[in-house]
Parts: sequence; structure tokens; C-alpha cells
Amino acid sequence: MRSHYCGLVNEKLVGQEVTICGWVHRRRDHGGVIFLDMRDREGIAQVVVDPDTEQSFATAERVRSEFVLQIKGIVRDRPEGTINDDMRTGKIEILGKDVTVLNAAETPPFPLDDYNDVGEDTRLKYRFMDLRRPEMLNKLIFRSKVTSHIRNFLDQNGFMDVETPILTRATPEGARDYLVPSRTHGGNFFALPQSPQLFKQLLMVSGVDRYYQIAKCFRDEDLRADRQPEFTQVDLEMSYMDENAIMTMMEGAIASMFKELLDVDLGAFPRMPYAEAMNKYGSDKPDLRIPLEIIDVADLMASIDFKVFAGPAKDPKGRVAALKVPGGAKLSRKQIDEYTKFVGIYGARGLAWIKVNELEKGTEGLQSPIVKFLGDDVALAIMDRLGAQNGDIVFFGADKAKIVNEALGALRCKLGEDLDLYTCAWAPMWVVDFPMFEELDDGGLTAIHHPFTAPSCSPSELKDNPAAALSRAYDMVLNGTELGGGSIRIHDGAMQSTVFDILGISEAEQANKFGFLLDALKFGCPPHGGLAFGLDRLVMLMTGASSIREVIAFPKTQSATCVLTKAPGEVDSKQLRELSIRVRLPESEKPES
Ligand code: AMO
Ligand code: AMP
Repeated sequence: MRSHYCGLVNEKLVGQEVTICGWVHRRRDHGGVIFLDMRDREGIAQVVVDPDTEQSFATAERVRSEFVLQIKGIVRDRPEGTINDDMRTGKIEILGKDVTVLNAAETPPFPLDDYNDVGEDTRLKYRFMDLRRPEMLNKLIFRSKVTSHIRNFLDQNGFMDVETPILTRATPEGARDYLVPSRTHGGNFFALPQSPQLFKQLLMVSGVDRYYQIAKCFRDEDLRADRQPEFTQVDLEMSYMDENAIMTMMEGAIASMFKELLDVDLGAFPRMPYAEAMNKYGSDKPDLRIPLEIIDVADLMASIDFKVFAGPAKDPKGRVAALKVPGGAKLSRKQIDEYTKFVGIYGARGLAWIKVNELEKGTEGLQSPIVKFLGDDVALAIMDRLGAQNGDIVFFGADKAKIVNEALGALRCKLGEDLDLYTCAWAPMWVVDFPMFEELDDGGLTAIHHPFTAPSCSPSELKDNPAAALSRAYDMVLNGTELGGGSIRIHDGAMQSTVFDILGISEAEQANKFGFLLDALKFGCPPHGGLAFGLDRLVMLMTGASSIREVIAFPKTQSATCVLTKAPGEVDSKQLRELSIRVRLPESEKPES
């Protein structure tokens, strides 16, 4: 039906006849001549229809935005003064001879040629139209380039693409499962995979050696801008490679992709122990574009009278820390109040601050609601430790370490954005030496990565002091987003059982839930490790999108629904009976009768 994409007609075709197909992006009537901007996947071409071609002109007169047309015409240079250098097709236009309407269109739910932000619900309801917008389509095109690059890279490095089941048993990755009832085994349920973790490990036992899959994962968890209930991983596993070899290879995959698709040199990926990341940046995914660091001041506060600071300073689980913001003294009271509210989201009960106006005047030159509680010596010792200069502001957090880290860590990123403190466009890194476990509120332990991650110590050391054990896990972080995470796995059955024991998983439960893994470890499992990248997050960062919903063709809303298909939906009672399911809604959710 067509000889060329609209967006690819260029000056090399001048004088030739072309046939294009596409949507009417815009129609303009210019004193007897009609201009049709025709759009397809590749871009927009300008078509001119003049009254000499009577029938075509009549057709062009009645077409509206988003009609689907086929146009045959001659490519010609645009007249002097009308060249548009911002357009790929800006040097030419097509003199339309035959204009055929392939399909009419109703008025679109929102204009595509002059797009103003419409509500996300409307965009998702008419996603097929939303995706027609060049901005959106270009993101899908880019995403396809990313997966194509990854597949090439992995092909060249000997990886095999293997599919793993979607109807499976729970894989613990820390979220709730999506369950699928079994008709043939009433009362039993499949779980959709939170990741292909256990299958890829089994593939190493099978001898696949290097596995990858662009895999759909399902997690019923609280949604945010960078989380979806259904998302895509580039999932990888390798035999006989240690963490250093895996990190180096994965760095190569990401760096070559940035070079090829964005012409960006990512440079070296620094490796930072988890403890250092938490200490300096209050986060296990620090945004290293921002030069601010969190600095401990508890030792200076332990003996002051001000309980807000002295309490946490003396508490072994407490932290008292400061964040110095160069030039921040210009922040207004209103702005400081807003930041105080902001840290409240993370549980901080306040946000003490000191503005450094004239340091040469001692504490007289400091403006703050707390200096009077600190005393001159302590206040000046803090200024000294922070290397404070006139014009700076210093924020303080004092609480349990977890709260201070989260609050000051988030404040650091917010200030970085609000005050545009970024020192570079891209800051990739690895976080390494994670603890094996994290303490739960009830005193129990949970795996920080997942329970199949190898510790860096022996089973007996692990048993003696699990809370202090480090793991062989690594996360790749880019601009404060966790792009991917992985680890060297446990390949020894005894070690795997020890970890399950520490997690409080009884032998019976181990056999029931993970018997197949423990079995596999008995039959010659090679040392192995791997990693999974969040594909949606990678594409979000590379395209500068504000959320992963912008780079997923058909995403779910913040409340995990699909407004386009109206999923999840009710099913009829016959289907439920077949599945041996009876629905009991809580009173509050019962439909009104
Ligand atoms: P993890 O749980 O860290 O590891 O997931 C790997 C990467 O997947 C992305 N990701 C998500 N993206 C969008 N929405 C979500 N809800 C979501 N959850 C995770 C992140 C994350 O870094 N099996 C292990 C990997 C391994 O050990 O090899 C795993 O799933 O970018
Ligand atoms: P208050 O004496 O409670 O009015 O607090 C004095 C100053 O300390 C105010 O600026 C509070 O915002 C701040 N503040 C109170 N609690 C904390 C805390 N846990 N961490 C940091 N600053 C705090």
C-alpha cells in the first residue's frame, strides 16, 4: 500500500513519486491550498494538495484529524523560507495527487497535534490513542532498541534465552504473590512468579551455563513511580563466575548500551560497601550526582542537655547526623517548613537547622532555633567538623538510625533536585557487601536480598552471628534508582538449610516449599550467580521519563488496575464454582443492593 514511511521521505527523493499512508496529524487551509501533515511511526511529512487536482482537493477538504489516508504524490523541495530544519522531512513536501480515505475517525478524546497534559486516567483509558503521540511511540521504539541491544550483547557473550513458567509456586522476593486458582486441584493455587529466581538456578544445575530471559515478574506491592505490579526483568544467571566477573560483564552491557543508544560514556562504576552508602547517603541506592554527604555528630551531642539530640546520641540504635548544604542559607522559613514536613513522611519528628551567616562572629553569626540548646562549644565544634562556610545551612536528624537515614537520605535527594546541585548527568555505581539479614520489628530476621544469596562467611560463622554476616550480593544503581540486583548463590545444600533455619523456616516447610531446590543442590550444582535488571526502570532513566508507566505500553494505575480493559473484573458464579471458590467481601466492600 505504501512506498515510504511518512517520516522517512527526504530530499534524496525529490522528483520521485511516493505513496505514503498514515494519520492526518493536522490539516491547514491556506488560501486555496490545503496542507496535510501526515504522521506515521517514523514521523511527519507535509503534503500539499492544490485545487487543480479536483477530486483529491475535495477529499482533502473533508478529512479531519486522525483520519487514515493513503496519498500518492511527487516529492519536491520546499519553497525558500519554508524549510523547517527541526523536522527530519523539513526540506521537502509532497505534492499530493491521489488522496484516498482508508478510514475515518471520530474527534479524538484529546488532541494529538497540540497535546496538553490530560489526566492520566483518560490517557490510560484511550491508551491506543495516547501511544500514537510521537513522544510516547518514540519511547516504545527506544525500549525495543534497548532489548535488541541487550539480546545482541548477551548472544555475543554466550547466553541462552530460556523461558520459565508463569504458573508456578511462590518465589520469595519480599512482595505478596498474585495467585491463580487451579480448576483441576480445587483449593490449590499457582503463584505468578515474583522473579524466575529458582528456575534460573535450576538451569545452572542443568548445564545451561549462561541463561537470560526478558521475563515478566508479578509482585503485589505498594506502587510508586518506579514500581508496577507486573514489570519486566532482564534476568541473568551464570555458572563459574564470581561477583567481580559478573559485575564487570554487566557494567559492560550497560555501558555499551548507553554509548550506542545515547552516545554517553558512563565511565567507571565505583563500588561502595552498603555500610558506607547508608552512612554517607542514608540510602542503599545513593544518587551520586549530588555532592552532599551526611555526617555523624552524635559524639558531640551525647552530653548536652537537649534531649531531642542527646537521647538518640546515647541510643545504640540511634543516629544523630548533619547535612550541610552549601549556599542553603538563602532558604526561606517557608521553604524550611516545607522540608520539615517532607522529612515527616519518613517519620522524622522535626528538622533542626543552623544557618551560617557570619562564622567569624562565632555563635553570634549562626541563626538557628537550636544553637541555644547546643551551647557555644558544641555548635562551633559541629561547624568545624562540617567545614561550614558563610552562606551554608546545616540540617540535623536525630532519631533511630533507620529514620534518620531515610529522612536525611530523602532530603539530600530533594535538595539536590530543588537546588539543582547535580555535578554530572549520569552517576552509575555498585553497592556491595550488603548484610545477609535485616531485623524485623518482632526481632526475627528476613533476607535482605533473597534466601538463596550466599553469605561471605562459613556456615558456622553465619550461625554464630547472623545479624553481622555480609552477603555476596550487589546492586547496580544509577542516579539514585536501583537498576538491578543480584548475588552469588548458595550452591551447597547444608548452607542453604542453615539460611532457611536462621529465617525460621522449619524443616517440614523447607521440604514442602523448596524441596526441589534442596534436591537439585544434591546432584552437582556448579557455583553460580546472576542478576536481574529492571527493564522498565532502565528505559525510564534512559528516556528521561517521569515514571515507569510512561515506558510500558499498557501499564496499571497506581491502584493496580487496568482502566482500558477494566481489569481486574468480576467473574460469573459458574466460573467460580468450577474453581471451588466462594467470594466473601468485607462489609465495607459489598456492593450496594
Ligand atoms: P530484585 O527483587 O532486586 O531481584 O529485582 C531486580 C530488579 O527488578 C526491578 N524491580 C521492579 N521494577 C518495577 N516494578 C517493580 N515492582 C519491581 N521490583 C523490582 C528493579 C530491581 O533492581 N531474582 C532477583 C535477581 C537476582 O538475584 O538475580 C530479583 O528479582 O530494577
Ligand atoms: P523542639 O524543641 O521540639 O521545638 O525542637 C527544636 C528544633 O529541633 C526544631 O527545629 C525541630 O524541628 C527540631 N527537631 C525536633 N525533633 C527533631 C528530631 N528528631 N530530629 C531533628 N530535628 C528535630
